[in-house]
Amino acid sequence: MSNPIIEKLRAAVATAATRLQEADNSAAIEEVRIEMLGRKGLIPALSKEMKDVPPEQRKATGMAFNEAKDQLEQLLAAALDRIDAAATAAAATELDLTLPGRRWSVGRKHPLMQVMDDCVAIFRRLGFIVADGPEIETVFNNFDALNTPDDHPSRDRGDTFYFADGRLLRTQTSPVQIRVMTAQPPPVRIVAPGRTFRRDTPDATHSMNFHQIEGLYIDDQVSLGDLKCVLLKFAHEMFGPDVGIRMRPHFFPFTEPSVEVDFSCIMCQGKGCRVCKNSGWLEIAGAGMVDPNVLTNVGYDPEQCSGYAFGMGIERIAMLRYRINDIRFLYENDVRFLQQF
Ligand code: DAH
Repeated sequence: MSNPIIEKLRAAVATAATRLQEADNSAAIEEVRIEMLGRKGLIPALSKEMKDVPPEQRKATGMAFNEAKDQLEQLLAAALDRIDAAATAAAATELDLTLPGRRWSVGRKHPLMQVMDDCVAIFRRLGFIVADGPEIETVFNNFDALNTPDDHPSRDRGDTFYFADGRLLRTQTSPVQIRVMTAQPPPVRIVAPGRTFRRDTPDATHSMNFHQIEGLYIDDQVSLGDLKCVLLKFAHEMFGPDVGIRMRPHFFPFTEPSVEVDFSCIMCQGKGCRVCKNSGWLEIAGAGMVDPNVLTNVGYDPEQCSGYAFGMGIERIAMLRYRINDIRFLYENDVRFLQQF
């Protein structure tokens, strides 16, 4: 069917189609709708001209007219859908300042590492530098050079983890003393924090894998008084100015004389409680003046230099500081436990 009305309408629909395709907002689409379908639009105007169509063409013209009008309506709806979809997609990527913030869970230092870092920081302030050694050690560094007798029980296979090649998992941080002294002449002033291993059955106070910090000071004319001064300073920095220390005679193969160092109980201020077994004192460190044999073993001259050494358990300090009564809490990595620090 073709006549001037239909021609005009089809041409107008074609132009509208292009405009709708290019429209990038709903106002542009509305503009097309008004021009075509509005009260003063093209379609009402053309439908008024229908009365001039000869009667025998009216039916076909009417049908072609409605077809074109339907097509236009579909084009309008499709264009609106397209704009809506684009708007929704844009909104999804837009920053909505009214949304509640997202909480990122921030990790934190493990209490053991916190205590280790604090120990290191205290000794660094006192002039010590940090030294390091491997966790897999030689028997020489872990025992022989440290003046440990061949029949000393700590060398036992039931106490120490050995590898098939004869090396071992270090049982203490003391071998770092040997590594440092064989690598440099005196003076030496180091601390060596690190992991240590012993063949213990785990319970509330024992673990097969624990941590120590070792100290070593070698110079001319170093005395036990210097050692006491440094450990007292450490006690004050770690547990507060009211903590006192005492030294008790002891034995270690690598020191002579050897002492055990106690801190006055931080739980009961020395009055006596369960933690200090009513003694008022807590065993914290082993220490002493470096045995002349050890100095000789690393090529130092015991006539020319002397020094002190000390070693203490990081777990013990952490458990006292944070009032933890079972060492196993420190290794289980239960977040409910760790979140408290
Ligand atoms: N290595 C000893 C231990 O694990 C602790 C120790 C005692 C270290 C006396 C020292 C020291 O440096 O002088 O039990």
